[in-house]
Amino acid sequence: MFSASLSLDPAFTIAPVSRRTFGSFVEHMGRCVYTGIYEPGHPSADADGFRQDVLALVRELGVSVVRYPGGNFVSGYRWEDGIGPVADRPVRRDLAWHSLETNEVGIDEFMRWADKAGVEVMYAVNLGTRGVQEALDVHEYLNHPDRTRLAELRQANGTPKPYGVKMFCLGNEMDGPWQTGHKTAREYGRLAVETARALRSAEPGLELVACGSSSSTMPTFAAWEAEVLELTYDAVDYISAHAYYEPVDGDLASFLASAVDLDHFVHSVVATADSVGARLKSKKRLNISFDEWNVWYLREFEARRDTEVTEWQVAPRVIEDCYSVADAVVVGGLLIALLRHSDRVTAACQAQLVNVIAPIRTEPGGPAWRQTIFHPFAITSRLARGEVLRVEARCPTYETARFGAVPTLDAVATHDTDSGDVTVFVVNRDLSQAAELTVPVAGFGTGLRVAESWTLADEDLMAVNTAAAPDRVVPRPADDARVADGVLRATLPPVSWTAIRLSRP
Ligand code: AHR
Repeated sequence: MFSASLSLDPAFTIAPVSRRTFGSFVEHMGRCVYTGIYEPGHPSADADGFRQDVLALVRELGVSVVRYPGGNFVSGYRWEDGIGPVADRPVRRDLAWHSLETNEVGIDEFMRWADKAGVEVMYAVNLGTRGVQEALDVHEYLNHPDRTRLAELRQANGTPKPYGVKMFCLGNEMDGPWQTGHKTAREYGRLAVETARALRSAEPGLELVACGSSSSTMPTFAAWEAEVLELTYDAVDYISAHAYYEPVDGDLASFLASAVDLDHFVHSVVATADSVGARLKSKKRLNISFDEWNVWYLREFEARRDTEVTEWQVAPRVIEDCYSVADAVVVGGLLIALLRHSDRVTAACQAQLVNVIAPIRTEPGGPAWRQTIFHPFAITSRLARGEVLRVEARCPTYETARFGAVPTLDAVATHDTDSGDVTVFVVNRDLSQAAELTVPVAGFGTGLRVAESWTLADEDLMAVNTAAAPDRVVPRPADDARVADGVLRATLPPVSWTAIRLSRP
């Protein structure tokens, strides 16, 4: 057991909580769409073929915005294949995942699903095999009110009013050589700026995301951002960031500190963007759309790729990672880091939503269940309200092979000035010791009590949820959390994620 304390103050605000921090991602990949959100023959399917068991879990997860339709998939996608009578829609090859796309679900179906789920849509346009005209066309279909060919086509397809999509991603991971239509930074920057200008001319208030690097390990990382932003700075609002984490060679200590890498990633992109802004003498400040992040056992996938990605199947089982307690603690930690950067990261999408590296799993014709990583996401989305507060942790450090000495605790807090609630989110990354935590809260006034507290931890760090045991891993109340004499005290088990909401009764 070690002692630790957190310092927080209502005056130390970072930024308001952006609801878009709690975004997710639906790609036409594996079983995310087909037998994930959509399965007409399923016992829970509604009249539109959407699984209501999945819809209920998506609402419980507290997802705010969903990026769609890809991912690598979008770089070869023809959006118009997915509209009109389903029987007339073509089956196409998806070169990204070597699958067959039936196009049963397209824009109109997905927008209907998003409406039922109560989420905003972040729409990605294809800048791999396509360009300015097709981006304008899909925007016209989605958002133009009436009296044009594509607005009338949308109306004829059953949607009289425009969908009003606000956020558009200008392609996906165009820096990656694996991307269909991969480009150099200059080629992409030119295409992105022309697409952005055309979209803005159609609808000035859009929020546009330029592709940043697909990972901070890319050889072109930062140079890519600098060159793309030199060309696009005035025309876009966001630069994207993507990061996936996994334990390498069983190194759990470094894996648990993945948020250290995310912090560094954000600092690097912010520094690069701001340096371009300074060179351009611009007063405008770009934000980050962290529109793909998660734990992903990518190395394992690469090793089995030849057998897993069987040629030209419809909705094959691809990267259906089964998440452990340790993975959930890392996801909770990554959410803490994203919140900490709320001044510059104002949108983020966990990748993906269902089945494909996802918090929700399904079986065709069978159950839907919450993976371990579902829980920290759902609780953080529900409890993070108001202003994000900077938190200073006083705690021991531990050694990691990847990041050197890392603080055992990582924390953030939010303060809802309307309700007066203060919520603390904290991970204990120590592999063997619990933390005796104290948090002075008198600065928020008197009368705060623990309203609810949740800890995710387990003696078996590799425990997972399955169809047969869907609730093997669930958060439990942090029973000993209490406020006395203006100090919150709680015990944080080793390798744990905890959220404590304080309120006045
Ligand atoms: O989320 C899975 C894949 O990861 C996406 O298609 C791609 O954008 C990223 O490389």
